[in-house]
Amino acid sequence: MDVIKTLGTCALTFGLLASPVSASLNGTIPKKYGIVMFRAFDTTDITAPLEILNFIGLMYNTEVALISETLDPVSTQPLTMNPKNSSVWTSFAPTHTFETAPAVDVLIVPGGPGARNPNMTAVWNYIAKAAPHTKHVLNICTGSGVSAKAGIMNGRKATTNKAAWKEITTYGPNTTWVPKARWVEDYSAEPPIWSSSGVTSGFDMLLQFVEKFYSPQNATYISNLIEHVRITDPNNDPFAVNINGTAA
Ligand SMILES: *[C@@H]1O[C@H](CO)[C@@H](O)[C@H](O)[C@H]1NC(C)=O
Ligand SMILES: *[C@@H]1O[C@H](CO)[C@@H](O)[C@H](O)[C@H]1NC(C)=O
Ligand SMILES: *[C@@H]1O[C@H](CO)[C@@H](O)[C@H](O)[C@H]1NC(C)=O
Ligand SMILES: *[C@@H]1O[C@H](CO)[C@@H](O)[C@H](O)[C@H]1NC(C)=O
Ligand SMILES: *[C@@H]1O[C@H](CO)[C@@H](O)[C@H](O)[C@H]1NC(C)=O
Ligand SMILES: *[C@@H]1O[C@H](CO)[C@@H](O)[C@H](O)[C@H]1NC(C)=O
Repeated sequence: MDVIKTLGTCALTFGLLASPVSASLNGTIPKKYGIVMFRAFDTTDITAPLEILNFIGLMYNTEVALISETLDPVSTQPLTMNPKNSSVWTSFAPTHTFETAPAVDVLIVPGGPGARNPNMTAVWNYIAKAAPHTKHVLNICTGSGVSAKAGIMNGRKATTNKAAWKEITTYGPNTTWVPKARWVEDYSAEPPIWSSSGVTSGFDMLLQFVEKFYSPQNATYISNLIEHVRITDPNNDPFAVNINGTAA
């Protein structure tokens, strides 16, 4: 509660201060984000960026579109796997379909069990169509495999979840997969494409994105508020040891 109160007060204060000056996304602060959603996405692959963007939205006018094939709520429940008949799954309501999605500055692609769904044709088509018109793509976890199948990772450098390494790297035969990385930044072509390692690495990648394209101060401010112990060195990958499937 205290944090929320403090934040509310701070947010008002920021609003009254001079407009922020920042490092740039080719001269501009990103404003429009799109997050792709598909059946059996990993919850945190979507909520980590949203967590960060919820705070960015208090400092800068920012828009987030949650984009999926239809407007039906999208569940985290895997298509076939639910051996214990559990009801732990959550659903998120999209704001746009692939047809109605606005143009976005930053496209975020999550992973999760659904990254292995056999038919993601609609998702792949959307990513392939949208990515060239964005200023940045951020893949989280096995999202880099989804983007690889969409055909946008050819010739790019990327990483992915070490516990899913063997399978996901086969999705991008023309991708240079970096086995030890908390996240990877590829600037070899437009748009720049970043990709993070597993799940919570999305926090570190997004905070680095904030550091680079908003300000270091903003990244520190947000990581302090969410009490996240940041990994700031992209080569610091405590999970690289799991690369041969020793994670579980
Ligand atoms: C970045 O800015 C330069 C100079 O203003 C411009 O020529 C270029 O097209 C911009 N690139 C993108 C991807 O917006
Ligand atoms: C799963 O749970 C639902 C709801 O309680 C029940 O109707 C169904 O029979 C259960 N299925 C299995 C395979 O246990
Ligand atoms: C694959 O998905 C697309 C888009 O949802 C759908 O139109 C198509 O019928 C599906 N194909 C198969 C073989 O299930
Ligand atoms: C990889 O590159 C080769 C040669 O350019 C191309 O034929 C192939 O379709 C590419 N693979 C993928 C998955 O895009
Ligand atoms: C965010 O960064 C801008 C640009 O450096 C700065 O003006 C502003 O005070 C920062 N706000 C917070 C809360 O870090
Ligand atoms: C994973 O396996 C490959 C092939 O056996 C081996 O070269 C590599 O050193 C292993 N990596 C780790 C981190 O164990």
